[in-house]
Amino acid sequence: MKKPVILCVDDEQMLLDSLKQQLKHQFGNDYQIETADSGFDALEIVEELFEDNIELPLIISDQIMPGMKGDELLKQINAIAPKTLKILLTGQADAEAVGKAVNSANLYRYIAKPWEPTDLNLTVTEAIRRYFQEKELAQFYASLEKKVAARTHELQEKNQFLSIAVHDLKNPLSAIQGFAEMIQTDYDEMLSEEVIEVIDRILTSSRQMFELISNLLEVNAIESGKMNLSLIALDILPILQWLVNHYSERAKPKGITLQLSYREKKYCALANENTTRQVLDNLISNAVKYSPYGKHIYVRLSIDENYVRCEVQDEGPGLSDEDQQKLFGQFTRLTPKPTGGEHSTGLGLFIVKKLINSMQGKVRCESILGQGTTFIVEFSIARE
Ligand SMILES: Nc1ncnc2c1ncn2[C@@H]1O[C@H](COP(=O)(O)OP(=O)(O)OP(=O)(O)O)[C@@H](O)[C@H]1O
Ligand SMILES: [Mg+2]
Repeated sequence: MKKPVILCVDDEQMLLDSLKQQLKHQFGNDYQIETADSGFDALEIVEELFEDNIELPLIISDQIMPGMKGDELLKQINAIAPKTLKILLTGQADAEAVGKAVNSANLYRYIAKPWEPTDLNLTVTEAIRRYFQEKELAQFYASLEKKVAARTHELQEKNQFLSIAVHDLKNPLSAIQGFAEMIQTDYDEMLSEEVIEVIDRILTSSRQMFELISNLLEVNAIESGKMNLSLIALDILPILQWLVNHYSERAKPKGITLQLSYREKKYCALANENTTRQVLDNLISNAVKYSPYGKHIYVRLSIDENYVRCEVQDEGPGLSDEDQQKLFGQFTRLTPKPTGGEHSTGLGLFIVKKLINSMQGKVRCESILGQGTTFIVEFSIARE
């Protein structure tokens, strides 16, 4: 880092030298003292300093100079370096110039010629102190502004999350209310099968609400950092066997079959059991949910030196590039819709991503529109 610069401007070489000597003696350890013998020369030096990223806390300029006067120079400097403090050296009769410089150049002080050495030293010391104080303050405000902006963004996101959640809870709730009112008013004219059917719908709607609330609680727990997962050496295979069995049953009405393939006896990953089950459950249930009648789902396990990898491949509608970008966001219900009237809260994959991250794993999607989708999860391998 180069030393910050104090720049002195005067057309009288002798005065310039003596100013330089005095400042060098007093401030030379921490500051580079530069000189210019005209306003034009000074402007050039300032530009060079800025190009080289060298700080210029202070410029001291004579007023009466041929070509460009001191107040005009400081005005121009003020336009390019507003933070640099400016001192004008003046004779007795320069009150007007001082007034102008105060107004147009944000003059810090003026010093009458001939100057008192102690007065000069004190003024310069004070000016430098002020410069760095203001700089610190500016940095403090900038960081404060950043924090406020981040916080505002966070609040906006929370607000949006809440409004979507409320909207999604209102639908099943008003359905429940409507069905209950139907029984209340029409009970006498209803057949018992009809009553049972309406009650079934009430149950479905309340299950949807329950599912959404569980998801919201889960998201909240993840976001507030309360997910301290204990990771152990976990064999993924039995979990997948259970899930594939379970979903084979549930997919029967849709004529969908599931197939699990693997080569090893064990697939030990560094993972948390419940979390892993939840991640894989989400991916397999999605495959079943978005596949049309009669399709196949392939679940494959593999292992290499770093990862235990699980792929869930379906023959469903696939996802466009645009949809793939949004896949792991909150409340994303994309182009593919459930094929068997299943419910969708749009939070499943958002949760999957967060959970997998918290186990230091990875999840990604490969898909070509119209040709099915493959989700790939990688768990860190558990080393014996
Ligand atoms: N295997 C898939 N094939 C095609 N589209 C999919 C698949 N998995 C997810 N999607 C699309 O991505 C969207 C987001 O999936 P996500 O699992 O996050 O939510 P969801 O299934 O709608 O609801 P839930 O919160 O109940 O899981 C789905 O609405 C669907 O449009
Ligand atoms: Mg889902």
